[in-house]
Amino acid sequence: MKAPIGIRDVALRAEVSVGTVSNVLNRPDVVAAATRARVLAAIDALGYVRNEPARQLRSGTARTIGLVVLDVGNPFFTDVARGVEEAASEAGHAVILCNSGESVTKERGHVELLAAQRVHGVLITPVQSGPAQVRWLRERGISVVLLDHPTAEADLCSVAVDDRHGGELAVTHLLAEGCERIVMVTGPAGIHQAAERHRGARDAIRLAGRPPEVLEVLTAPALNVACGLRAGEQLLARTVRPDAVFCANDLLALGLLQAAVRAGVRVPEDLAIVGYDDIDFAAAAAVPLTSVRQPRHELGRTAAALVIAESQSPAEHEHRHEVFTPELIVRESSRRPRPSRHFHVKAPPEERKNEWI
Ligand code: RIB
Repeated sequence: MKAPIGIRDVALRAEVSVGTVSNVLNRPDVVAAATRARVLAAIDALGYVRNEPARQLRSGTARTIGLVVLDVGNPFFTDVARGVEEAASEAGHAVILCNSGESVTKERGHVELLAAQRVHGVLITPVQSGPAQVRWLRERGISVVLLDHPTAEADLCSVAVDDRHGGELAVTHLLAEGCERIVMVTGPAGIHQAAERHRGARDAIRLAGRPPEVLEVLTAPALNVACGLRAGEQLLARTVRPDAVFCANDLLALGLLQAAVRAGVRVPEDLAIVGYDDIDFAAAAAVPLTSVRQPRHELGRTAAALVIAESQSPAEHEHRHEVFTPELIVRESSRRPRPSRHFHVKAPPEERKNEWI
């Protein structure tokens, strides 16, 4: 294979020094227009591509940020990643996407790789609430923003959604629809987002003055469609079934909806379902899914802007903790039919000839 074209080949072709080529690449404003044009023409003609790792080594900085998410299979995170990528590319940065798969070991491996790549900063939705990875990165001078994870720590930024409020919105809505036997299908205890939604669900029951037993909790091993399907099969096999299910995310809710359709259970008439995230598939589901919407794209953009701002001027950077408010989007899956009420309107007295008044 032919050796890659180097900066010296470009200098030779353009009849300038290597330093001039470097200036055209890094400080074009200090090079005369005619010379700059000649160098750019040589770059095009030779097909020169700059050696980014070598540049990073020389300058000690990389124009990349790392993004470590819990599950790239969850559209929530791909929507967030789109916002991250958009803001990063506007700032001239690329994004290295890593999937921890909710594994602490995988998460650690990704964090070490990103540090080795000398990325400018890392956005991370930590597998566990512990700050281990965050501290490890910051000790190596790498900016970190907690993504989809609130924190009170004063020395780093975070971007999250008020999940407790989101859980309260979901269950308050189900109570208003007349649901009496509500099950919340949540995820493993280590996923704080699900735990916060559960807290909000309990708040709704208490604030409505209803007994705690109105809300039952079922814990799924993971927050995905397969676990939602299994939870649905389990709940619908009961003699006394719930009349509503609030799921900790939309993937669980879509799996649960699938179980209801397979069992011939009418949604929402027999079983109201509410999810969380409002991913695109929620509205497109066989029975459009009611869901608690998270501002996914905005979460990503905000986190990327914070980590790039901190990495570019760490001394002046002021840490922020952004918390967005979720919104309940009501659709067919929870809009229970109202009992039809016939209003009998009496005719005025002069017209009531044969009636007792
Ligand atoms: O990662 C599990 C869930 O937490 C996602 O579906 C999303 O809701 C996130 O906040």
